[in-house]
Amino acid sequence: RVAYVNGRYVPHAEACVHVEDRGYQFADGVYEVCEVLDGRLVDERRHMDRLERSLKELRIREPMSRAALGHVLRETVRRNRVRDGMVYLQITRGVARRDHPFPKGDVAPAVVVTARSIDRRKGGKVAEQGIAVITVPDNRWERVDIKTVSLLPNVLARQAAEEAGAAEAWFVDRDGCVTEGSSTNAWIVDIDGRLITRPADRGILRGITRTVVVELARREGLELVERPFTVEEAKRAREAFVTSATKLVMPVVRIDDAVIGNGKPGSIAGRLRDLFHGAAE
Ligand code: PDD
Repeated sequence: RVAYVNGRYVPHAEACVHVEDRGYQFADGVYEVCEVLDGRLVDERRHMDRLERSLKELRIREPMSRAALGHVLRETVRRNRVRDGMVYLQITRGVARRDHPFPKGDVAPAVVVTARSIDRRKGGKVAEQGIAVITVPDNRWERVDIKTVSLLPNVLARQAAEEAGAAEAWFVDRDGCVTEGSSTNAWIVDIDGRLITRPADRGILRGITRTVVVELARREGLELVERPFTVEEAKRAREAFVTSATKLVMPVVRIDDAVIGNGKPGSIAGRLRDLFHGAAE
């Protein structure tokens, strides 16, 4: 395997960043995860749009043109012979002597890209069973709309999920509403078959998969309401599922101790999963 690090393709085992990279010291950086399907990047344009927004919000300079970055992503995928899987891109504010304010002068942002294969059949098998999620208090900062590598609350939540035998943790805000998963967006289907997901303007990352599923649902004529929903509502829902570039549309069959529906993946989640790649770019 190879990784791209600051202008070079290097053996994955030897791919290093400097000890004073601000990503390492301050989590001062952003990232993207893009699905790879048949060797192609899924929804590349949307991921690039979101990346540019994240960089802008943190005032990190764009390290290279969008075209050049796209080339690096595809080249990393190609060199790793990934057909189905994911590509990871991280951009930090660069290397400078440890000091909290932005470095003075022209410090180049640091760019790292890795890619790896994911076994689609395994994901499909998990989706046939559905996953369990736990709920945890949302103790993150207010700018979760930025895709930063500062993910400690997400890491702790996901570890708690694993220790509870669940695959994902849903964050819950002070009003008892679900915000999103540790690395996924959260959805439910109510008793009347309406899709419900939290609006992307507060408290969540605007997932690319979420955006595609919103468009897909509209195209399919499904009723969709973007509003916050409570944990109690979710536990009484007919269906629940999560979306992300790596899990795609993944049915949820248990929330804490509550079984969702009949404990099997719901039909709407299944349909959206089946149709997802037809709707993505
Ligand atoms: N996570 N919410 C959070 C907090 C996320 O980290 C992610 C993505 C999503 C879904 O976004 P998208 O549909 O664009 O993948 C929602 C990536 C996959 C990760 O951290 O690995």
